[in-house]
Amino acid sequence: MVIMSDAKMKSLRDRLAAVGQEHLLRFYGELDAAAQSHLLGQIEALDLDSLPGLIQTYVTGKPKVAVPDRIDPAPYFPVDPNSKRRPWDGVAMRAAGESLLAAGKVAAFTVAGGQGSRLGFEGPKGMFPAGAVTGKTLFQFFAESLRAAAKKYGAVVPWYIMTSPLNHEATVAYFESNGYLGLDRKNVMFFPQGVMPSFEMGTGKILLAGKGEIATNPDGHGGSLKALFTSGAIDDMRRRGVEHISYFQVDNPLVRVVDPVFLGLHAIAAESSGEMSSKMIPKTGPEEKLGVFCSVNGKIEIIEYSDLPRELAEQRLADGGLRFIAGSIAVHVMSVEFVARLNTDRAFSLPYHRAEKKIPHIDMGTGKLVQPEKNNGVKLERFVFDALPLCRRSIVYETSRAEEFAPIKNATGVDSVESSKAIQTERAARWLEAAGVKVPRRADGTAECVIELSPLTAMEAGDLAGKNLPREIGRGERVAL
Ligand code: UD1
Repeated sequence: MVIMSDAKMKSLRDRLAAVGQEHLLRFYGELDAAAQSHLLGQIEALDLDSLPGLIQTYVTGKPKVAVPDRIDPAPYFPVDPNSKRRPWDGVAMRAAGESLLAAGKVAAFTVAGGQGSRLGFEGPKGMFPAGAVTGKTLFQFFAESLRAAAKKYGAVVPWYIMTSPLNHEATVAYFESNGYLGLDRKNVMFFPQGVMPSFEMGTGKILLAGKGEIATNPDGHGGSLKALFTSGAIDDMRRRGVEHISYFQVDNPLVRVVDPVFLGLHAIAAESSGEMSSKMIPKTGPEEKLGVFCSVNGKIEIIEYSDLPRELAEQRLADGGLRFIAGSIAVHVMSVEFVARLNTDRAFSLPYHRAEKKIPHIDMGTGKLVQPEKNNGVKLERFVFDALPLCRRSIVYETSRAEEFAPIKNATGVDSVESSKAIQTERAARWLEAAGVKVPRRADGTAECVIELSPLTAMEAGDLAGKNLPREIGRGERVAL
């Protein structure tokens, strides 16, 4: 418990006043001892010295995203290794990735600290029912993929899950009460990411969520680079002999949690330093909300969709295709040593990104909780892809949208549960047809049924060979295999 003498309290008030945050103690006298101690703990965790600069740059000021003078589309390995544009050795890359997996040198890492607010889902997003037929959760999809990978490659792929202080307990409780989804609990590690205080727009004052509670927000998926290290996850990986981390977001049930070809490219392609690599899909149009891979001064970068100047996003090539075509699906491979190096490099720090939000807070005059109707606050987050330019050489690998990208981000429309279920069905239909199963199709070519394939049945189309499958799927049938 944090207890302070009067002299220490005075000095704390003075220090807060010096950085314009003395209001944080406005209701201190009304709190009981435990609440006082909690608030003092939160204040002690703030880096008071750097606050004024941070607020001036990102909160009261709006940093103009510096768009470099010269920005080109990033080069990438096309999905087809035999493409004339840039042929590459698909067989060798797959073999390299498979041998990393078989040697137990790969871990899976899910960033699951975000607040599924756009989806309107209470609770950890990984618990969202995503399966087209069974309604199995996002976490179940990933767990089944990891069980399938362990069987296929004969080695455990340990799973690290980054939560946030807001959903950590609920996430762990879900795994506990569901038998770790069939995984061995010693191969699953959870750790919460850090938080940032939330600020009042315009004034830069830190908001109070309660009279004794600073309003905070998770520090962005970029916080994972620090949390991997401070949580002991990196040490745990080193102990296990893990060399590479397969990074993915919590929102995509079709993600390849480990992809041998991508792992191989990352680890042995001449253009890769084996530090941090990325997957891309061709964007459907300039307005699609995907970060875009660019090349700046010879380094690969992702420029977030909201930051890429419109004239660049809309540029077309002679054949009509987008010039900046490579959209990020937020799938990366990072080496354990790259993450460790970033954390031991004193100069390492990722920039913050500013987001204006509606943040419930205590009114300083009345002491009552206010639910704002328009944006009143600023959240600061770090993005993991800002680490890409810190690599010596980084590569981008094109993958197929229809095979790997069915994210659930919104309640309806694009990237929603409906669109995800339709993509799940179409992918399953293609794989089954390739294995000789008859699938009913409508006049427009879409499958007239709902199909869900468990990763335990197939992680990729070829895994269906020799499996016990139905000869035909009935019109309008709902099938989980
Ligand atoms: C993200 C990417 C975008 C990419 C798209 C692909 C960003 C800013 N944008 O968009 O470039 O093209 O996905 O689907 O990343 N998370 C945390 N902690 C946090 C914040 C987020 O763990 O503090 C996790 C979330 O749980 C989620 C992921 O990061 O798994 C993505 O976060 P979100 O803010 O939803 O990004 P998108 O707008 O979906």
